Amino acid sequence: MRAVVLLCLLHVAPGMSQFNWEGPERVAPDAVTSSASACNVDTLSCECCKMVRETKRLQTYFNTTLTNLERELDKANQTFVTLQGSRVAFSVSLYTGDTFKCYGPFGVDTVIAYQQIFINLGMAYNMATGIFTVTYPGVYSLAVTSFSDAGSPGNILAVCTSLQVNGQIVAGSRELNRNDQEDSTTIAVALKLKAGDKVSVKLAKGCYLCDDSNHYNTFSAFLLYADA
Ligand SMILES: *[C@@H]1O[C@H](CO)[C@@H](O)[C@H](O)[C@H]1NC(C)=O
Ligand SMILES: *[C@@H]1O[C@H](CO)[C@@H](O)[C@H](O)[C@H]1NC(C)=O
Repeated sequence: MRAVVLLCLLHVAPGMSQFNWEGPERVAPDAVTSSASACNVDTLSCECCKMVRETKRLQTYFNTTLTNLERELDKANQTFVTLQGSRVAFSVSLYTGDTFKCYGPFGVDTVIAYQQIFINLGMAYNMATGIFTVTYPGVYSLAVTSFSDAGSPGNILAVCTSLQVNGQIVAGSRELNRNDQEDSTTIAVALKLKAGDKVSVKLAKGCYLCDDSNHYNTFSAFLLYADA
């Protein structure tokens, strides 16, 4: 309110010189006949009234604008908080420990239960089953690296894994030969997944993977874009 009064005074100050209360030219104010003519009579207070009205209008305008902005900020913050809570990223490898050992071969296709966890943000990867259950729908980046070692040249080498969603193969990797001792393969895809989808890596029947603390066999995924 102090600012309003000051504004009023500043506004009318230049007009003050037109009034000469001491001099002979002093003009007596007309009688106030109606509210419409009030401004002709007392311009000073009239200007001040206008200023107060204008200030109130601006106050309401800024208040409404601020309230709307606060509401928008709140919405944006809620979206941000939700997104922050829906962070999903995991990266795992076949074994913990240093000992070189192999996984498989098995008589049937087998879901690989990776045991070494680098990160499991959102706890969507289940170490006991090897299954990543999608909690938040969206676009995910997924990658699988596989490695095997035949033990010595001439032995059968069979690196064959596949990335599966709900039991359906999305992408596979395959290296079968008798010529070299080691082989590795990679699968990297981006997929749109829905909540509840079950993602896993299967080792094909008769194939096998080998690893040690070098972590040649990894399975990783992270949420790239969450559905709105
Ligand atoms: C500003 O707006 C809020 C909510 O719309 C209201 O509660 C508050 O009294 C207003 N303040 C002023 C100074 O107009
Ligand atoms: C955003 O929302 C969170 C949780 O509701 C709250 O703790 C935080 O203070 C909010 N931040 C802002 C800038 O409003």
